[in-house]
Amino acid sequence: MANIVIIGTQWGDEGKGKIVDLLAEHADVVVRFQGGNNAGHTMVVAGEKVISHLVPSGILQGKTCLIGNGVVVDPAVLIEEMDYLQGKGVPCGPQQLMVSERAQVIMPYQREIDKARELKKGKDKIGTTGRGIGPAYEDKVARCGIRMVDLIDPQSLDEKLAAVLPEKNFLLEKFLGAAPIDLNTISEQYKSFAKRLAPHVVDISVVVHRAMGQGRQVLFEGAQGTHLDIDHGTYPFVTSSNTVSGNACCGCGVGPKDVTGVMGVVKAYTTRVGAGPFPSELFDEVGEYLQSKGAEFGSTTGRKRRCGWLDMVILNNAVRLNGLTGLAITKLDVLGGLDQIKICTAYRYKGRLMDTFPSSLKVLAECEPVYETVDGWREDISQISEYGRLPVNVQKYLQRIEALSGVPVQIVSVGAQRDQTMVLDNPFV
Ligand code: GDP
Ligand code: IMO
Ligand code: MG
Repeated sequence: MANIVIIGTQWGDEGKGKIVDLLAEHADVVVRFQGGNNAGHTMVVAGEKVISHLVPSGILQGKTCLIGNGVVVDPAVLIEEMDYLQGKGVPCGPQQLMVSERAQVIMPYQREIDKARELKKGKDKIGTTGRGIGPAYEDKVARCGIRMVDLIDPQSLDEKLAAVLPEKNFLLEKFLGAAPIDLNTISEQYKSFAKRLAPHVVDISVVVHRAMGQGRQVLFEGAQGTHLDIDHGTYPFVTSSNTVSGNACCGCGVGPKDVTGVMGVVKAYTTRVGAGPFPSELFDEVGEYLQSKGAEFGSTTGRKRRCGWLDMVILNNAVRLNGLTGLAITKLDVLGGLDQIKICTAYRYKGRLMDTFPSSLKVLAECEPVYETVDGWREDISQISEYGRLPVNVQKYLQRIEALSGVPVQIVSVGAQRDQTMVLDNPFV
């Protein structure tokens, strides 16, 4: 029996949605364990594109999909997504989709605080998705959050709202210069969400354990990426949750011994949305080539993604932080057409070579990437379905990533479609 965690190794948007959708065929249960609708996970099946923000990317394979306690859930977004999927004939009833009683609920004041803070910060903004993610996690830790179990109990919802709203409105009005939120309006709105969602609200830890006890395989779906992790990422230019594999346990209520493998999804180059350091970023025509050929626009906010070369310092950081047992290399097709490809193998800081990722953003800002140059390829590889048929320089690039990371490449993706993939070693079978 295999239970595999799939996480992003870079700054998000590595193609996790595609890989989760593909591998979900071999899993019985797919569970999201952190983040919220800041995520945008794209699946393309039979030419049709579906972007999921909250619903786990196993839904198109008809698998049981769970939203764990570590996720922050915007109920309006969840309902909208369920309606959208059901409109496409994808069942999303309480048997297919369940949400943890302990998941935190994103409230309108958290969204407003997120947006108003970014506005106030001006040029120093983080570039958040404006979905209220940070403020929702803040309230969780401050112990004034509202959980799904509170949402579906009208009395509890009103009591909690009455306790928390005066402080939030004070902050919104007096400090952030934004409009206050009316208690009755959100109480009514959220009670209607509660009615719709109540049949889906369960104890996810119990559901996952029961499934594992019956010999069913679990896929833990990460969101964001390792370098957006609240502890290990480029703080403060990060998201507000732990995105590393260890949080798969905490975020749905299982112990570490239940996880049998960790797959890191790696874009064949690097991208980042929002502000923050990015040592191998390209500001030239190659960066523009990757942006345009890779259609690098955020799946959630539509913002242009910054692009750069593959950075082994950050990939090796992800190998260590997540305990990676396999890699899925995505968007390899996008690199086609370049005569030469660079791989950042270390940073140079004050004349010294560094191969670990610095904690200080001041140090990072002074780090220069050190590159190794490899030969590119001109061929279009997007229709190739056998590893042996890939041009030799593509194979060499993959072998170089394996050698530099010490982790085997298990999946190679050459296009957005589910079937544009080579599975070299399926972690589930
Ligand atoms: P996620 O957040 O990690 O799930 O990634 P996103 O869905 O936000 O962004 C990845 C984008 O790349 C999506 O538009 C995918 O459809 C697309 N994609 C995934 N794998 C490949 C690939 O191998 N080649 C190409 N060209 N596109 C891909
Ligand atoms: P997926 O799961 C890429 C980035 C935002 C911003 C920072 C903080 O699709 O890979 P937040 O709204 O979380 O407080 O924003 O994190 N960010 C992502 N970037 N992919 C994501 O998710 C992201 N989720 C958050 O752009 O820089
Ligand atoms: Mg995304």
